[in-house]
Amino acid sequence: MKNLVVLTGAGISAESGISTFRDANGLWEGHNIMEVASPEGWQANPELVNNFYNIRRAQLKTVNPNAAHLMLAELEKYYNLTIITQNVDNLHERAGSNNVLHLHGELNKVREVNNPDSILEWDKDLSCNDTHNGSILRPHIVWFGEDIPLFTKAKEIATTAHIFLIIGTSLQVYPAAGLYHYAPENAPVIYIDSNPSQDVLEDSRIHTIAKTASEGLASIKQKLIEIA
Ligand code: OAD
Repeated sequence: MKNLVVLTGAGISAESGISTFRDANGLWEGHNIMEVASPEGWQANPELVNNFYNIRRAQLKTVNPNAAHLMLAELEKYYNLTIITQNVDNLHERAGSNNVLHLHGELNKVREVNNPDSILEWDKDLSCNDTHNGSILRPHIVWFGEDIPLFTKAKEIATTAHIFLIIGTSLQVYPAAGLYHYAPENAPVIYIDSNPSQDVLEDSRIHTIAKTASEGLASIKQKLIEIA
């Protein structure tokens, strides 16, 4: 089977009702990004940070995978398909995708502050009083200024791509935005986004489809199956 590598961002979950980061009504509204998504923000006010992610975690229970998530899961029948997602929601897994790498962490996990390798499943609110092995717990989210432990693996996966598909990301946040550069030169790079990033439009290597995630995927799904 051919390898289909898919990089997804907030835009693929938009049709499920989860706000993207950079749209006017986006996730950060009312919050300074560094307050809720940086180690300094956590040091300054862990309760505010926990509450911010508690709201997002609770929201997950009210939303469902959309047609785009479901189509990617279906394409596993035809491809050795890996999703590298910048999203912290669990909609790819709930749609049935089996190989999902969460570059920026997961809302439904927390970890010990004193031992980053001790990661726990977590589907309820997190408070500053919650501990494990004597350590307080923090959201399992990659904050600004932190390393991305899964990036090396993501790079390796990108190098194996026969086709590299990018869906619903503004490609503003590195290193994720540069992952497609690791795909072999002869691998087509396809970018589906309802409002594609201008930088990418200037990259002649990328075939852009300016549609929503579900419309864009529906428009190429049959072709993808044919060339599988
Ligand atoms: P952004 O909010 O930056 O970009 C969302 C993209 O989705 C934009 O390009 C929109 O045009 C597009 N979009 C919106 N609705 C869409 C739809 N229905 N179908 C297709 N595309 C749609 O989100 P990301 O690129 O995912 O990092 O942001 C990357 C990272 O920045 C996030 O993972 C987060 C943030 O800072 C961390 O938290 C570490």
